[in-house]
Amino acid sequence: MILVTGGAGFIGSNFVLDWLADNDETVVTLDKLTYAGNLNNLASVRDDSRHLFVHGDIGDADLVSSLLAQHKPRAIAHFAAESHVDRSIHGPAAFIATNVNGTFNLLESTRAYWAALPENERAAFRFLHVSTDEVYGSLSPEDPPFTETTAYQPNSPYSASKAASDHLVRAYHHTYGLPTLTTNCSNNYGPYHFPEKLIPLVIANARAGKPLPIYGDGQQIRDWLYVGDHCAAIRRALADGRPGETYNIGGWNEKANLDVVGMLCDILDELAPRLQGGSYREQITYVADRPGHDRRYAIDARKIERELGWKPAETFETGIRRTVQWYLANEEWVRNVQSGDYMKWMERNYSQRDAERKTA
Ligand code: NAD
Ligand code: TYD
Repeated sequence: MILVTGGAGFIGSNFVLDWLADNDETVVTLDKLTYAGNLNNLASVRDDSRHLFVHGDIGDADLVSSLLAQHKPRAIAHFAAESHVDRSIHGPAAFIATNVNGTFNLLESTRAYWAALPENERAAFRFLHVSTDEVYGSLSPEDPPFTETTAYQPNSPYSASKAASDHLVRAYHHTYGLPTLTTNCSNNYGPYHFPEKLIPLVIANARAGKPLPIYGDGQQIRDWLYVGDHCAAIRRALADGRPGETYNIGGWNEKANLDVVGMLCDILDELAPRLQGGSYREQITYVADRPGHDRRYAIDARKIERELGWKPAETFETGIRRTVQWYLANEEWVRNVQSGDYMKWMERNYSQRDAERKTA
């Protein structure tokens, strides 16, 4: 079986669902269910005997060690993190706790478990750490895209905490021989994306008749990667990646934020026209910029293509249309997140279980 941390979040839940769609290997999901964790994302596998959900923190050494001993995973896919740059600006402590200390704890528990495995299982074991292109800092318009050897220059508390976790993963390979893989990907988009991130926020606000907030001049560039393509790349890296290596994963889709929002408006105008007429573009509103806002990210994804034969299947045009269609078909999911109902359900379902665990 494999252990997935953060599997109730955006990318982790896509990974779990995709994994179980074409694979009978069991998945154990460990997730703390922070504001970003949503069990509704995993609703379709709630009764699937190949999936077990465990509510817990990657920083809980006893829990992680007992999960490893009990389930004996052959691999760990580590998605769990605090992931939103804006939240890291308002409150960086949680980012250090989970991204740095949590990853450290996970590595320590994994090292002890891995060291005690029989030789053949030790050789086959993989610890795949999911990271971000934001560790490389910001590019000028004329700079070449980030490669795996670009120097780290993180600029936000989020990217600094992810950079720290990448360094720890690297050290655990070089010092202890732990068979690690690190993937640094660009901005993901697709189903189950939490609606405070740009793309789902714009879709939800457009439909609700609210302003579509553009930070600064809207000319910041991101490289957009469809989440299903990202999950496929992680599966390739888990299967055939070389231990100790890092792989950049990108969509070859550099777009300015304003252009992304404009495309979203055009697709919405076509698929769900405004009742009062006119374009959703009329709702675009410029707001104050994010402090320290990185100007441009771009990924050179040739290494993973050359070595592992992966490249994205979606263009931005196809992926963004699929994404808008998903959000239009799943407005109930968005409403549950916005109303906080998904958290209430979690409280109802888990407060009692946690109390039972503590008294057991
Ligand atoms: P997300 O915020 O949607 O999900 C994170 C998940 O981790 C949530 O389910 C949350 O409950 C869980 N979690 C948080 N703290 C935890 C803890 N201490 N213990 C256990 N679970 C915990 O994030 P995402 O967008 O799905 O990102 C997944 C990974 O990919 C992260 O490591 C992130 O840094 C990385 N990444 C994301 C993007 C992107 O565009 N979303 C881009 C590059 C890299
Ligand atoms: P975001 O989805 O927060 O991802 P990240 O900061 O990790 O790249 O933001 C994507 C881009 O969109 C980023 O340049 C910030 C910008 N942005 C806006 O212009 N308005 C918004 O309301 C949000 C949330 C983001």
